Amino acid sequence: MEIKVEKGDLARHPAKAVIVNLFEGVGKPGGGTGAVDRALDGAIGQLIADGEIKGKKNELTLIHTLGKLPTPRVLVAGLGKQTQFSLDTVRDITGTALRRLRGAAATTVATIVHGAGIAGLEAEACAQAIAEGAMMGLYRFDRLKKPEEDQKRIDSVTLVESDESKLEALKRGVERGRILGAAANHARDMANEPSNLFTPAIMAERAQALAKDAGLACQVLDREEMEKLGMGALLGVAAGSAQPPKFIILRHRGNERNKGTIGLLGKGITFDSGGISIKPSAGMERMKGDMSGGAAVISAMWALSKLEAPVNVTALIPACENMPSGTATKPGDVLRAMNGKTIEVINTDAEGRLILADAICYARNENLSPLIDVATLTGSMQIALGPAATGFTATDDALAEALVKAGQAAGERMWRFPLIDEYRTSLKSTVADIKNTGNRYGGAISAAKFLHFFAEDTPWVHIDMAPTDSVDKDKGAFVKGATGIPTRTLVHLVLALAGKGADSPGFRGN
Ligand code: BES
Ligand code: MN
Ligand code: ZN
Repeated sequence: MEIKVEKGDLARHPAKAVIVNLFEGVGKPGGGTGAVDRALDGAIGQLIADGEIKGKKNELTLIHTLGKLPTPRVLVAGLGKQTQFSLDTVRDITGTALRRLRGAAATTVATIVHGAGIAGLEAEACAQAIAEGAMMGLYRFDRLKKPEEDQKRIDSVTLVESDESKLEALKRGVERGRILGAAANHARDMANEPSNLFTPAIMAERAQALAKDAGLACQVLDREEMEKLGMGALLGVAAGSAQPPKFIILRHRGNERNKGTIGLLGKGITFDSGGISIKPSAGMERMKGDMSGGAAVISAMWALSKLEAPVNVTALIPACENMPSGTATKPGDVLRAMNGKTIEVINTDAEGRLILADAICYARNENLSPLIDVATLTGSMQIALGPAATGFTATDDALAEALVKAGQAAGERMWRFPLIDEYRTSLKSTVADIKNTGNRYGGAISAAKFLHFFAEDTPWVHIDMAPTDSVDKDKGAFVKGATGIPTRTLVHLVLALAGKGADSPGFRGN
């Protein structure tokens, strides 16, 4: 799909459909919507007067132009209340409107630049949100399905702007939005794949292909190398599976003057059956997405490289399956992590923290800082937050604040949880340095405390994305299935840390 920027007049555009917009409570449309309304002899104004169009958020009204305009159809998209308007609305309304028009067989669409007019948002940011909304909202995972006979697609989306002075900014925004939207879609592609077609080895191959496309260095460690490094926690999780584990490393070097390197770590469990502590079968298929954290990290690295981010970042993705078998780790077994610390495995279903423990050890050996890990770690976080936010913990307030801001920029809400030491006591083991599970209550926090035991004093944020890894229905820029969260947040966060250079939280520059 092409996304273009053109100078011109929407009312004269020949696309198969044209999108205009309306805030709630506006009686007489202005700007681009007003121009289209005049060309339609006041049809939009009439529908407003009749009470059919109210401008409510996500309200869509399709009007046939019957030869009055070069385009056969105009879609009026409601933006909701102007006081609540934001870039999130732009992203979401774009996704919703384009899905509707794809269903109506419009192959080319021209759109008003939502927000850049009276709402007063920056033109570049609006264009970026439109491009993200288009890329993400039209996403489909259909490669395993027989194509429908009348499979519909949108070939081009054109942002039409009459003000010449805004065109360059719009083009820059579209370029960024395309990269960010594509990155989220790469993450969704990986998470939507079934586990039989997306083993750790295949995940490593996908990482290699994306690295090649973006010019990143990629290295994949296999079981023998992990044994040499002493990654006993990761190998303990992989022990029950016939699929060999892979430890994926991606490197982006965007700042040769500064040696400091940020670490992005992602959980890469390509299927989580629970292992010997097996999960109930209802809903277990969801656990093909237990590598969503790793997918987000790989995709964020791809975007950072495409955006030529002026910063050094190393990504570590421990990838394996968590399966029961005669060779699987059993409750009560003790594993030794790469840093020599011993772990008593109480529940083999608490496997994400085990593989991340070794990834954190590896990151600390490489002197990466700050560390940002991303994982579908606990059902407890999902129960705490529901689907509207992703939970996180942080050892550093400035880093926490930067993450919340990055989430706002991406339209991916981030909510901080406390990292109180008291939760560590439930992880005391009589036979090892730590147990892998503690109390049921506050399970998301004790999971974070487990990781904290390995991160030690390295500035660190832990993102538990179990609440938001997937959605069960289409909504705005998201479609049923994997969300690609928090890929775009990670990109914003790393760029923000880079912008602040050596002063940024936890960044060990020298
Ligand atoms: N991958 C799961 C967590 C999860 C649950 C992700 C629901 C997405 C949706 C994780 O490995 C897990 O099984 N966690 C256990 C930990 C428990 C055994 C302490 C959980 O949360 O139940
Ligand atoms: Mn598990
Ligand atoms: Zn898991």
